[in-house]
Amino acid sequence: MAKRAALVTGGSGGIGLAIARRLAQSGYALTISGRREDKLLATAEALANEDFKVEAVVADVTSEEAVVDLVAEHRRQWGRLDCLVNNAGVGIGQSIDAVQAKHFDLQVAVNLRAPVVATRESSDMLKAAGAEHGKALVVNLASIAGKQYPAWLSIYAATKAAVISYSQSCQKEFGNSGVGVTAICPGFVATDMTEFAKEQVPADKMMSTDDIAEAVSFLLNVSPNCVIPEIIMSRPGSGPDSGGM
Ligand SMILES: NC(=O)c1ccc[n+]([C@@H]2O[C@H](COP(=O)([O-])OP(=O)(O)OC[C@H]3O[C@@H](n4cnc5c(N)ncnc54)[C@H](OP(=O)(O)O)[C@@H]3O)[C@@H](O)[C@H]2O)c1
Repeated sequence: MAKRAALVTGGSGGIGLAIARRLAQSGYALTISGRREDKLLATAEALANEDFKVEAVVADVTSEEAVVDLVAEHRRQWGRLDCLVNNAGVGIGQSIDAVQAKHFDLQVAVNLRAPVVATRESSDMLKAAGAEHGKALVVNLASIAGKQYPAWLSIYAATKAAVISYSQSCQKEFGNSGVGVTAICPGFVATDMTEFAKEQVPADKMMSTDDIAEAVSFLLNVSPNCVIPEIIMSRPGSGPDSGGM
């Protein structure tokens, strides 16, 4: 059995990959998942070439069964779970008079239902890790959109607000079990997801994926007597008029 193990959904790129690499550098064996097999396997190979222990599992988290199987595969491979990172996410910009049910359903499934299912399937392993060392951790990638309610991203923002709420409810249920739950709420981070915004906000003015990984290091380093419900990360000069993005 690994000494520490982490599962990162959407770990094949962007913020998820930066967090996965940071966890591996901290000694965690990894399971990373994503939909696109070629991208996922290339990422896993790159991490393995850095001498990290990594397993790649193709999983489309819009399927409950796929999330159940993903956690089961992680359990089979590593036998424990110390850090669950619910990172896979999708954002679809639309005006409120053009919202389509299929886009609503997709964002709810990926951004909210998948973390709920992954947490349900993982909670026994997380509690076992919490009982062992007091520092099991669930990191849910929310967004500053869930705090500042931007126009044109109403459904995405609503799913992220729900993730923040869900994270705090989880923390209450985990209680003194040694499992901390944190919603990370960033503004624009330079990844594929923010390609649409890079004409207005150049990539070098956005946060980096390493900034988000740094937040995870902070969460790992505080004592078991400190739980952190949320971390809001915004860019200098961004404010409510920009939805904080
Ligand atoms: N970038 C930002 O500015 C920003 C700001 C605030 C919050 N966030 C949140 O941070 C998280 C990561 O965002 P990112 O910017 O790193 O996005 P990204 O670069 O688009 O990466 C998203 C990752 O999620 C995976 N993914 C997407 N849909 C999936 C699905 N249905 N099933 C399984 N995996 C799926 C992708 O892999 P495949 O495509 O291969 O599946 C990819 O690995 C998201 O939850 C996002 O909402 C991002």
